[in-house]
Amino acid sequence: MKSANGLIAFTLLTSAFAPALSPAAAQTSVARAPFGKTPDGQPVDVYTLKDKVLTVKIITWGAHVIDIEAPDRNGKTGDIVLGYSSMDAPNSSYLADHKTYMGSVVGRYGNRIAHAEFTLDGKTYHLSANDHGNTLHGGITGFDWKNWSGAKIPAGVELTLVSPDGDMGFPGTLTAHVRYTLEGNKLKIAYTATTDKPTVINLTNHSYFNLAGGGQILDHVLMVDADRYTPTDALSIPTGELAPVAGTPFDFKTPTAIGARIHDNFEQLKLAKGYDHNFVLNGPHELSHAAIVVTDPKSGRTLTIYTTEPGVQFYTGNFLDGTFTGNLGKEEQYDGFCLETQHYPDSPNEPKFPTTTLNPGQTYRTTTIFQFTAK
Ligand code: GLA
Repeated sequence: MKSANGLIAFTLLTSAFAPALSPAAAQTSVARAPFGKTPDGQPVDVYTLKDKVLTVKIITWGAHVIDIEAPDRNGKTGDIVLGYSSMDAPNSSYLADHKTYMGSVVGRYGNRIAHAEFTLDGKTYHLSANDHGNTLHGGITGFDWKNWSGAKIPAGVELTLVSPDGDMGFPGTLTAHVRYTLEGNKLKIAYTATTDKPTVINLTNHSYFNLAGGGQILDHVLMVDADRYTPTDALSIPTGELAPVAGTPFDFKTPTAIGARIHDNFEQLKLAKGYDHNFVLNGPHELSHAAIVVTDPKSGRTLTIYTTEPGVQFYTGNFLDGTFTGNLGKEEQYDGFCLETQHYPDSPNEPKFPTTTLNPGQTYRTTTIFQFTAK
């Protein structure tokens, strides 16, 4: 009797809410809880998204992904991104680590802008220079260092940030939304933005994955569907060239271990101390196309990435140096890899690269899906 009543109550409840929820949304729970405080005392919340396969935690500070729990080939779940469980603990928190961009959304312009300046419509803008005279990930207090406002949406959370005109030197008031949603084994990240003056924009997520849940990632096997990449100078600024990957350690068209050639005597690898380069994705730049696949042979976990973006920054955690200790242990060189789907670095100064200009009246719209499977 009791269970029959329970069933009726459940049926009534779901049918009452059914029109507003897609089937995927109905299977995902979203919970909000306090996480900590910003440097000026504002509350930071954590949103926990959970469905049958994945549990993902996101905080309002920097729109960071702090935790992704995904099953291995035996169905055992484990955390597969580097992150912290505190806002302010010494050497192990988001406020201690102002260096790695651990899981954050980077912006207003992800990756580098040379000499911290660019010219748009005849006017030169001077930006915050936070990386050897260049601008990295939007400047010293970029979008990773701002508290976004959060709101539950079906199957996920929407984070919103208003970046004022002149923020880090960028023109225009930019209103950005990042929607994280779960659909079965997929984490979808949808970015939109509008501006009130012409500006430049390049948003991406800077998660460090470790599909084994710890240790180095050099034995993970990577496929990137890219015939070309953008070589850089010693400060990681693209030279402007789109170089072929064929015959170089940058050819990941055939799945290859990340570490197989990372120590090769190849100038681009030496300059960056590993991979830290933008790959020119072959496309189509559509969510139906698997642009990148990474497999960890030990756990059997596979990450497949679908994106509308034309490029991806493949970074092997070259500058992790053990300063910080996170949820997967001490963060040492090559303990995580980033695949930052994006427009190419320094596009505002490279007219031949796909444009990153956003004008008033336009809506910036990009989507990336991280899919997790195991076999
Ligand atoms: C990006 C850059 C790297 C490095 C990391 C953060 O991936 O390309 O050079 O700055 O962010 O440490």
